[in-house]
Amino acid sequence: MINTASEKSSIYSMHKYWGKKPSGELARIISKFSKIGDTILDPFAGYGGFAIEGVLLNRNVIINDLNPVAAFIAKNILNEQIDIIKLKELADTLKSQYTNFRKEWYGFQNGEITTILRNATNIPLKLRIKIGNRFKEVTLSDEEQRNFLKKEQSYQIKSWYPTNILIQNARISAKSGMTTADLFPKRALICQSFLFDLISNLEDCPEKELLRFTFTSNLANCSKLVPPILSRGDMSQGAWMTGFYIGKTYLENNVFHYFENRLSKTIKGKECYLQLRKKNHVKTSYKILNEDAKHLPLPNDSIDFVYTDFPYGDTVPYFEQSQLWNHWLNNEVDYENEIVVSDSPERNKTIIDFKEGIDRSVSEISRVLKNKKHFVFHFHSLSGEEWNSIVGPLKKYGFSFQSCEVLLQKTLPPRQLNRCNTIKGDFLAIYQKNQEAVNDRCDFEENFKDKINKLNANDFYDTNELVVLCIKSMLETGFDSDIGFTAIIEKYFSYDDNRKKWRKL
Ligand SMILES: C[S@@+](CC[C@H](N)C(=O)[O-])C[C@H]1O[C@@H](n2cnc3c(N)ncnc32)[C@H](O)[C@@H]1O
Repeated sequence: MINTASEKSSIYSMHKYWGKKPSGELARIISKFSKIGDTILDPFAGYGGFAIEGVLLNRNVIINDLNPVAAFIAKNILNEQIDIIKLKELADTLKSQYTNFRKEWYGFQNGEITTILRNATNIPLKLRIKIGNRFKEVTLSDEEQRNFLKKEQSYQIKSWYPTNILIQNARISAKSGMTTADLFPKRALICQSFLFDLISNLEDCPEKELLRFTFTSNLANCSKLVPPILSRGDMSQGAWMTGFYIGKTYLENNVFHYFENRLSKTIKGKECYLQLRKKNHVKTSYKILNEDAKHLPLPNDSIDFVYTDFPYGDTVPYFEQSQLWNHWLNNEVDYENEIVVSDSPERNKTIIDFKEGIDRSVSEISRVLKNKKHFVFHFHSLSGEEWNSIVGPLKKYGFSFQSCEVLLQKTLPPRQLNRCNTIKGDFLAIYQKNQEAVNDRCDFEENFKDKINKLNANDFYDTNELVVLCIKSMLETGFDSDIGFTAIIEKYFSYDDNRKKWRKL
C-alpha cells in the first residue's frame, strides 16, 4: 500500500527534469484551492507533477508545456494503458537482441565493464568491472588504452544517431559547432544508437513508448556529462546537473547495464502510479497539451483553479538543455516561442521578450480562469526585474493578491545575489481572479519599511530572508516598476563580512 510522499517518490524518479516540484507540496496546493471534480490547469507543467497529484486527487487536469520532451515525459507517466508484463517481455526481447553486441563492447576478461573513467580527450584510464556480484577496478596500460581506442575508432556506426548542432551558449557550456553526438564517447554512441534502433523497430504500442522514455532517461548516464566526485574517489559518480560541461575526467557508463537499471526505475514508478490510481473512485480525465502558454486552446472561463511554476528567467534555459533528449526523439521544437532569458548569441531572448511572454501568458490564465477562482504560482528568482514581469500583468489582468508563503531551505551569501538568480526555497504567491477588484495598493517602500521596523535591530539576517521581504512588499503593493533588491537592502542594512549576514542600519 502506497501512502506517503516518500513512497510516491518512485514516480518522480522516472526521468530527469529541472525544477520538479515535490509531490506533497503540489497535493497540498491542489487540495487547498480546488475540490473533487474541478477542472484545474498548469500552463507550464514541466515533468507533470501537477497532473500526477491532480489525477490522484480526483480532479480533471489539463497540463501544458511547449517543450515536447516535457509532454513526452508526462504522457508516459500518466498513461494507464500499460501492461507491465508486456513491457517486461519487450525488454526481454531487446535483451536477447543485444546480448552479443553488449559482450562485444563491454565484455572484459571474465566480467563486464560497467564504467569507464576517461579524460577530456576520451582516453580510457580506468575500468570498473563486474564479475559475478563483485566489482573491481582496473587501470589500463598504455597498450590497453591504445587497443581500446582503436576498436572504437575503426568501427562504423550503422544505425541512426542525432548529429544536430547544439545551440551555442557559453552559460551551459555548449560550444560553437558542438553536436549532440559529441556529448557521447564513441563506445557509448555505438551502443546507444544500436539500442535505439532495436527499440525503434518494435511494433508501436504504449509499452514501446515507455522503452523510449527509459532510453532518454538513461542518455546522460552514458554520456560525457557524468563527473566523478573527486573527494570520494575518481570512480565515484556524480550526476548530470545542467548544461553540457565536460570535465577533465568523466565517467562513461555501460549503456545496456544502465538501461536495465533505468528500466527497473520506470517499472517501479509505473507500478506505484497504477496502484495509486486503482484507489480512485471518481471518474476524472486528464489532458496533456504541447502548446504555447501565450495561446492556450481552451475556452474562456472554463477552469476552476490554475497553478504554475513560471519559467525561471535566465536560470534554466529549458529548451536548450533538453536538446539531449529532443534530438534523439527527433522532436520539432518551437524555440521561437519559449519564454526564457538566454545568454545564447543565437537566440534573441532578452528580459524584454521574457516580460512580453509572461504578460501574454498571464492574460491567457486570466481569460480561461473563472471569476473569483484562484491562481497560485511558484517563482524562483532573485531578480526584481523578473518578479516585476509577473507582478505587473497580474494587476493588469484582474488578479488580486491574497497571500504568499515562503519555505526557505538554505541561506544565500550576498556575493551570490548577483550571480545566482534562484531563491533558495519555495516562494508561493496566491492570487484571486477578481474582475471587479479595485486597486487599493500602497507604496512599496513604505510597506517594506513597515516590515523592517518589526525586525530586531540587534539580530542578523541573511540575504535570502531580506529578498523575501522585498518580494512580499512587491506582491502586497503590486509594485510594478523595476527594482534592484540589492540597492533596497543596502539602503536599510549593513553587511557583516564575518557573519555573512545583514544588520539594520
Ligand atoms: C519552471 S519550469 C516548470 C517545472 C515544473 N514545475 C516541473 O515540476 O517540472 C517552466 C516550464 O515552462 C516551459 N515553457 C517555456 N516557455 C513556454 C511557453 N511559451 N509555453 C509553455 N511552456 C513553456 C518550459 O519548457 C519549462 O518546462
